Amino acid sequence: MDLFQAIEGRRSVRGFSERSVSRQILTAILQCARWSPSGVNLQPWRIEVVQGETLRTLAERLTEAAESGVPKNPDYQYHPNTWKEPYRGRRRDCGYGLLHAMGIDQGDGDGRKRAWLANYSFFNAPAVMLLFMDRSLGQGAWMDMGMFVQTILLTAHAYGLGVCPQASTAEYPDIVRQVVHVDRQYLFLCSLAMGYADHAAPANTLRTTRLEVEAFARFHG
Ligand SMILES: Cc1cc2nc3c(=O)[nH]c(=O)nc-3n(C[C@H](O)[C@H](O)[C@H](O)COP(=O)(O)O)c2cc1C
Repeated sequence: MDLFQAIEGRRSVRGFSERSVSRQILTAILQCARWSPSGVNLQPWRIEVVQGETLRTLAERLTEAAESGVPKNPDYQYHPNTWKEPYRGRRRDCGYGLLHAMGIDQGDGDGRKRAWLANYSFFNAPAVMLLFMDRSLGQGAWMDMGMFVQTILLTAHAYGLGVCPQASTAEYPDIVRQVVHVDRQYLFLCSLAMGYADHAAPANTLRTTRLEVEAFARFHG
């Protein structure tokens, strides 16, 4: 698979087959991702890979928290409190697009809740990577983390795996740190639910769009 195919062919996967992912492939993905660039070569990433019993425990604890309305206490604020256009519209389109793919009506409160809760069981993915970053680092390191995530997404795709990056799980960082024994010194940023895509899963029929280049770039000189 060439780079262009990998970039354009990758998409978020929210339904997985039961096929497990070998430790060898998970390691190979990280072997590749470690070549991501970072300012002054900080390499701020810290990853916990979870499978099997640990993953079941984590999914149970997160789902329980989300279902019972445990207050969220994310280490960082991903989204603004109030949305303005055009972001409000894009967010709405993204959410409705997913519901539509899953055959859930916009007015179906229970269905929407179920769709959202699926995040906390990692859409039944057989492997999950949890991303942490030392809280002493500056804002620049967040850019480094983003690059690292994208390299993982592309490498996983090249290995035939599907991934869903998830900021939703970052709403309960203390649970995540507790289950994988990570110190509070490390911010929990997001999870990457990973496995072989279930092509029959309705959520996996979602195809998102992108703005044309003219809409976000200007050329000077
Ligand atoms: C950092 C990050 C966090 C995300 N969090 C979630 C999430 O919690 N749940 C989810 O279903 N999708 C999540 N997504 C997936 C986005 O919705 C998806 O990337 C976007 O709609 C574009 O679709 P595509 O990945 O299929 O190209 C996240 C993506 C990123 C990059």
